[in-house]
Amino acid sequence: MSDHTQNNHAQKNIVFFSGENIPLEMHKARMVQRLTLHPVERRLEIINQAGNNTFLLPNRDVFLDMLTDSGVNAMSEAQYAAMLMADDSYAGSETFYRLEKTVQDFFGLKYFLPAHQGRACENILATALIRPGKTVVTNYHFTTTKSHITRQGGQVLEAVAEDALNPVSQNPFKGNFDLALLDRQVAQVGPENVAFVRIEAGTNLIGGQPISLGNMREVSAYCKSKKLLLVFDASLLADNLYFIKTRETACAEKPLPTIVREIASLMDIIYFSGRKLGCARGGGIAIAKKAHYLQMRDLVPLFEGFLTYGGMSVREMEAMAVGIRETLDFHVISQTPIFVEALGKELQAKGVPVVTPLGGLGCHVDAGRFIPQVPQIQYPAGSLAAAIYLISGVRGMERGTMSEQREEDGSERLSPVELVRLAVPKRVFTLSQIKYVADRLGWLYKNRDLVGGLEFVDEPKTLRFFLGRLKPVGDWQERLAKAFKKDMPSGL
Ligand SMILES: Cc1ncc(COP(=O)(O)O)c(C=O)c1O
Repeated sequence: MSDHTQNNHAQKNIVFFSGENIPLEMHKARMVQRLTLHPVERRLEIINQAGNNTFLLPNRDVFLDMLTDSGVNAMSEAQYAAMLMADDSYAGSETFYRLEKTVQDFFGLKYFLPAHQGRACENILATALIRPGKTVVTNYHFTTTKSHITRQGGQVLEAVAEDALNPVSQNPFKGNFDLALLDRQVAQVGPENVAFVRIEAGTNLIGGQPISLGNMREVSAYCKSKKLLLVFDASLLADNLYFIKTRETACAEKPLPTIVREIASLMDIIYFSGRKLGCARGGGIAIAKKAHYLQMRDLVPLFEGFLTYGGMSVREMEAMAVGIRETLDFHVISQTPIFVEALGKELQAKGVPVVTPLGGLGCHVDAGRFIPQVPQIQYPAGSLAAAIYLISGVRGMERGTMSEQREEDGSERLSPVELVRLAVPKRVFTLSQIKYVADRLGWLYKNRDLVGGLEFVDEPKTLRFFLGRLKPVGDWQERLAKAFKKDMPSGL
């Protein structure tokens, strides 16, 4: 892996003579995809045909797809080259052994199970480890993780510090556990009822905020003292590693492979979405102890496919193996955070409220402060995501009350944060595209009083944010489109 760790800090040392702070790409694009930008009148029709849910927009109608980084990071030439070497066999594929060895070398854990993506790993974990009445304590939940745990009759408690839910903060590690809170929650349910403690790297739902290595060490020591199983969701490890390297003084000089091994040595089980970690499409579970491996192993052929492919195509497995190794390249892991920072700073300069500190994964616009006139039961983050598409063709993702599930009695569970995530997949966008996004959001912020709420017309019971359809409350979208057309007569 040494080839990926050399020359790791060139980018940090390049400064612009002009004094400007510009995120400089250490790669070039050699394959491109054509984009289309429809005029605002057409975008108004399209967002309504999509039930005002950005998940339901056809990609052909999207200008800049900032929905997610999942499975849409740009792949490297080495990843594409590896895909040609794939060994296509149902059982015993050489590709699987290469991936297994890569994961073992990367994390240093002995056992590996393949699964077709992150939530498939969660299904296997929850099926094997959750029983009715069991609890999982986590720094912060993720949508699919929670659904798999509750589906098996378990519950999820969160032990992130209060500060983490404050969109404006100076805390460099908002994903850290509050250890006193963790201890109170474990005591409250009884350690014997805790199925596992879950650490999520780069906490997705609260703005891509990292957890420090120091905090992970403390959580691990606590779990050992209480004999609790510790599970690590490494899907967003790449961004989290960048922040450990750049914000945690004790780690500044530590090589990335050492940091990864140190994190992994604290965990019993590590799972990941290979759509994120590894920039391909797949997933996997690394396991320290044989007993845990055996507890989960037989579920792979049941849910995923044979043990040597786990629902993945061999080509994706090859690309994932290379992508995982490339996570040890500082240029690769810095790509998203430095572009998020560039976008966040442009937005802040225009007064647009964003989650701070600027994190990984994407720039998180604070819909609560952007459009305070929209009540939470009318989904401000969902409304803002629809409005952003309408005035720019940019597709972001709602991360607020719509992403929650209703309470048993049908009442809304209001999210503590209302965010629109503008994801910045690795190596995909140019700086001019990032500037376009900031420009259009600046326009929207000036016209924010025109934005109204949404209401469901079709609401699925589980994970409603994926497939739910909504309509605007009133005619605010027509008025917003008209105001845009007045300032931008071409409608573009
Ligand atoms: C932290 C985290 N865990 C799990 C998942 C689920 O992974 P997948 O989309 O591959 O099913 C995601 C996906 O966004 C994630 O961000």
